[in-house]
Amino acid sequence: MTAPKETAAIQAGPIEAGPKKLFIKTYGCQMNVYDSERMAEAMGANGYVTTDRADDADMILLNTCHIREKAAEKVYSELGRLRPLKDANPDLKIGIAGCVAQAEGEEILKRAPVVDLVVGPQTYHRLPAMEQAARAGARPVDTDFPEEDKFERLPKGPRASRGPTAFLTVQEGCDKFCAFCVVPYTRGAEVSRPAERLLREARDLVERGVREITLLGQNVNGYHGEGPDGTWTLARLVRALAEIDGLWRIRYTTSHPNDMTDDLIAAHGDEAKLMPYLHLPVQSGSDRILKAMNRKHTAQDYLRLIERLRKARPDLALSGDFIVGFPGETDQDFEDTLGLVRAVGYHSAFTFKYSARPGTPAAERPVLPEALLDERLHRLQALITEQQKAAQLAQVGREVGVLFEKTGRLPGQMVGKSDYLHAVHVGDCDAKPGELRRVRITASAPNSLSGELVPVPA
Ligand code: SAH
Ligand code: SF4
Ligand code: F3S
Repeated sequence: MTAPKETAAIQAGPIEAGPKKLFIKTYGCQMNVYDSERMAEAMGANGYVTTDRADDADMILLNTCHIREKAAEKVYSELGRLRPLKDANPDLKIGIAGCVAQAEGEEILKRAPVVDLVVGPQTYHRLPAMEQAARAGARPVDTDFPEEDKFERLPKGPRASRGPTAFLTVQEGCDKFCAFCVVPYTRGAEVSRPAERLLREARDLVERGVREITLLGQNVNGYHGEGPDGTWTLARLVRALAEIDGLWRIRYTTSHPNDMTDDLIAAHGDEAKLMPYLHLPVQSGSDRILKAMNRKHTAQDYLRLIERLRKARPDLALSGDFIVGFPGETDQDFEDTLGLVRAVGYHSAFTFKYSARPGTPAAERPVLPEALLDERLHRLQALITEQQKAAQLAQVGREVGVLFEKTGRLPGQMVGKSDYLHAVHVGDCDAKPGELRRVRITASAPNSLSGELVPVPA
């Protein structure tokens, strides 16, 4: 570890004319990851480059998440940890971006005097101007939902080369108003980006080395962007992206069961570049709870949908999101969730304890005892872990495509992702990052697989 320390010491020295350094910490979903990259590029216009050290930064940006109470509270504990840095360096600027910024706005300035600016997810194209205002002594807050397209207004930084995988936000916001969820309030109404711009951005990513693109949206399969010949669906966009040479894999997340259209199901059957993996949250297996959650579908609707998807693509791997302990959830409701999980057979799933969020309809209802939530979470997680293990073991002995991303911890080892999104470790491996190779899976560990390269025929 001596070399990086030396480099750090040099970096931390007083290089007056060097670029300013921006440290971004990202919480929450992949859309925040995408937004953080855009903010970093935009701040290039103000002479910033990114750093991975907070104590070395001229500006620190926390890109925050408001989805559960714990996620939101993390921001304030992080601000407490940053306080000494600000004391040591009064020129340091601290900004709050993302969904906590949107939800709490001005309140953040009152609660946290170290904060210099607050910018919502829809206005970060204005961040460079806000940073200048903060340097001039103001404490700007901007949480508008502006008419203009922020992606088009972002200052363009220099093009950097990229790793083999990238996110591309195609849709933002949500009109579904599930009774527990803050997203419709923090991200606003559903808006889809025009297809031509997305194709342009995708081509640009591919030119810079990207081989796999994950299309992002809070309701990505509700995509309805303006195309050259009318409104495009997500399936249409996927098919157009699939025509880009050099782009090998396409994924999308997160989907809502009610927007799983026939053309998208068909694409899973016949579009080879669309990967056989689908994140399709259902939240609960009880019709009573689904109704109270305002999900607007039943457990049967969901199971029938999975059946149709598997008919189109029999090896489709499924993942989901579940909330346990929604207000009013009885033992039977929870058993129905376990039953649905058994009926589907997930490759993986995220499980959450219900968290009452201010301003959402469900927050009006009495919460269940914490111990009950813990017990249900534990039981659901155990079932999902069992299914995840079974799904991984079923891969042993099979040959899969692996897109290599980086070197592993062991010498000569490379790590990549399979078509089914399993992390795959290959030892003694001559594949380079960005190469797609056939790998025979030989073993399964708790959260990854290992395998060996299948020799390429001469
Ligand atoms: N748009 C996606 C998911 C958005 S948030 C969808 O409709 O599925 C990601 C996940 O967080 C949700 O699927 C849900 O499982 C969980 N979540 C959202 N609000 C929550 C809350 N108040 N308490 C606990 N979990 C929550
Ligand atoms: Fe939240 Fe429901 Fe919208 Fe998903 S569909 S973002 S859970 S309101
Ligand atoms: Fe969190 Fe906002 Fe994403 S609340 S999950 S960062 S949309």
